Amino acid sequence: MKIKPRPLLAGNWKMNGMKSVGMRETKKLKSFVSKQTSLRCEILICPPATLLAPMKAVLKDSKILLGGQDCHYKNAGAHTGDISAEMLYDIGCRYVIVGHSERRTGHNETNRSVRDKAVSAIKSGLTPIICVGENQRQRKQQTTLSVVGAQLTASLPKKEDAKKLILAYEPIWAIGTGLVPALEDIHLVHSYIRGRLHGRYGDYGGKIRILYGGSVKKSNSAGILSVDNVDGALVGGASLLAKDFGGIISSYL
Ligand code: PGA
Repeated sequence: MKIKPRPLLAGNWKMNGMKSVGMRETKKLKSFVSKQTSLRCEILICPPATLLAPMKAVLKDSKILLGGQDCHYKNAGAHTGDISAEMLYDIGCRYVIVGHSERRTGHNETNRSVRDKAVSAIKSGLTPIICVGENQRQRKQQTTLSVVGAQLTASLPKKEDAKKLILAYEPIWAIGTGLVPALEDIHLVHSYIRGRLHGRYGDYGGKIRILYGGSVKKSNSAGILSVDNVDGALVGGASLLAKDFGGIISSYL
């Protein structure tokens, strides 16, 4: 029997969250999670960097994990405004998102820089969540698999560097739009990614979690999370309030 990796529900707060509201929602989520006895997934929050320290304090004695939204590929130095993977680990993060489409487009990140960030994250003890996905035009041209394939070829670390790794398939046209691909389409892309991970990493490719991201919410999460090779979700807007994220978490109770 195929052993499925333990699913992960990751909340990406993006550039949202003032301290008072952020900590209020974190406390609510912590309380919700502490009451669940049959939780089958791991839960991660990636808040803006300004909230990492207070959130770490609030999440003491909680199963909820903490992650960054990006990191520099170097450990330290003259890189104004950047944060290194080592620094994220130091403050208590164990995960970091790399190559989110908003960084690929808004900050001109290339597959190469995404790979360098992932390698730096792994060397620093973090698990990188590497994001891939096609835009609306590429989808219309039916080039999704070749676009995702090219991103995988160039963004994934070499076998010897890939000790810890998570993939997130996020169709750009589905992010923040309320649009979600048909479940068959999610299945097709996730199976393709699984095949590529096996090709690159052998047996280990079967253990790497592949998250789906893009307009996941309570009303669609159970369906999406039931798709073969979907090992969790990367959730933006619906992770900001504990009641919304809790609703998604309930899909794994
Ligand atoms: P969304 O964002 O859930 O708000 O669509 C997902 C993401 O960008 O990670």
